Amino acid sequence: MSSKFKNPRARFNFQGRTCSITGIGSYVPAKILANADLEKMVDTSDEWIVTRTGIKERRISAKDEFTSDMAAKAAHRAMKMAGVTASQIDLVIVATITPDMPFPATACVVQQKIGAKRAAAFDLEAACSGFIYGLEIGQQFIMSRTYDTVLVIGAEKLSSITDWQDRNTCVLFGDGSGAAILQNRENSHGLLTAVMGADGDKADLLFMPAGGSRCPATRESVDARLHFLRMSGKETFKNAVQAMCSAAQEALRRCELDITRIKCVIPHQANRRIIDAVGERLGATPEQMFVNLEKYGNTSAASVAIALDEAVAAGRIQRGDLILLVVFGAGLTWGAAIIEW
Ligand code: ACO
Repeated sequence: MSSKFKNPRARFNFQGRTCSITGIGSYVPAKILANADLEKMVDTSDEWIVTRTGIKERRISAKDEFTSDMAAKAAHRAMKMAGVTASQIDLVIVATITPDMPFPATACVVQQKIGAKRAAAFDLEAACSGFIYGLEIGQQFIMSRTYDTVLVIGAEKLSSITDWQDRNTCVLFGDGSGAAILQNRENSHGLLTAVMGADGDKADLLFMPAGGSRCPATRESVDARLHFLRMSGKETFKNAVQAMCSAAQEALRRCELDITRIKCVIPHQANRRIIDAVGERLGATPEQMFVNLEKYGNTSAASVAIALDEAVAAGRIQRGDLILLVVFGAGLTWGAAIIEW
């Protein structure tokens, strides 16, 4: 096991097992919705969307393709990479704000679809921060030796809660999924640390007003378009940059690492300007930052999982490299994780 950096857990006389991502996989639907298509739907332009967000197109799932379907497809790919069969999986965690139904948990539907009959299953809701929250929760079970194999998925069908008449939001989001298999791998520190944070004072910056116990579905709530997400873009933007930077810095501090030691920074793919501002403030070079949002837009909980999968597939990350994941989302929530890949 490399000791070129500090494992923050050593400080607590760490007795548990380390937890690595042994498999990663992602899936995006086939249908592409380009900026030119949006120009025909709302008063917007390709030029505005690209300049303000960096997004060129996003994927939209088919009518009969649900969050659980996309989650299961990413899961199969992660399982293949890890060499894991469904019967080995002890726990399925699905991070999503677009579950198939309010209940049962989408994780239970995924458990059935992949045939992980032995696994416990639950959803977690931390919006765009869900994948890092999921990694941190999942690794607790590996460290404690409660489970050997945990499947963490970020999956979203955001097109189902997007108001296609609202140009302020509809240009930003897309559908997709990403999955990781967590296991102990000998001679690797794996997930070194994960920072998670939340600020419920700012819950109204990004939310879906109806459909919960506060405002159950009625004819009026549907007519008032309350079942679509709403966002205060400017405020969200400012908070995103601040929270992502401080979470990333806290993670680096815990591991006594300088940003130059990080091979690849994988930020939440919400807006190119947010990514650039975060990279700049952290002192990362453009080469260190991984960006794929031009193809997919913001896929919320799936975002960094898809990006991580693509970074690995593109050869941007090799085993032993240090990577930094940093996210931000509704809640508000945020997180950062440092992983020895
Ligand atoms: N096309 C054309 N004009 C538009 C569009 C559009 N699609 N959307 C907004 N505009 C207009 C506005 O109406 C406004 O016009 P006005 O000045 O006449 O009122 C003008 O463009 C500027 O709008 P701003 O809101 O000031 O634009 P801004 O530069 O802040 O960019 C954006 C907006 C892209 C939404 C940005 O604020 C942003 O990315 N915010 C963060 C979003 C985010 O990261 N969310 C992450 C969490 S997501 C989750 O958890 C699910």
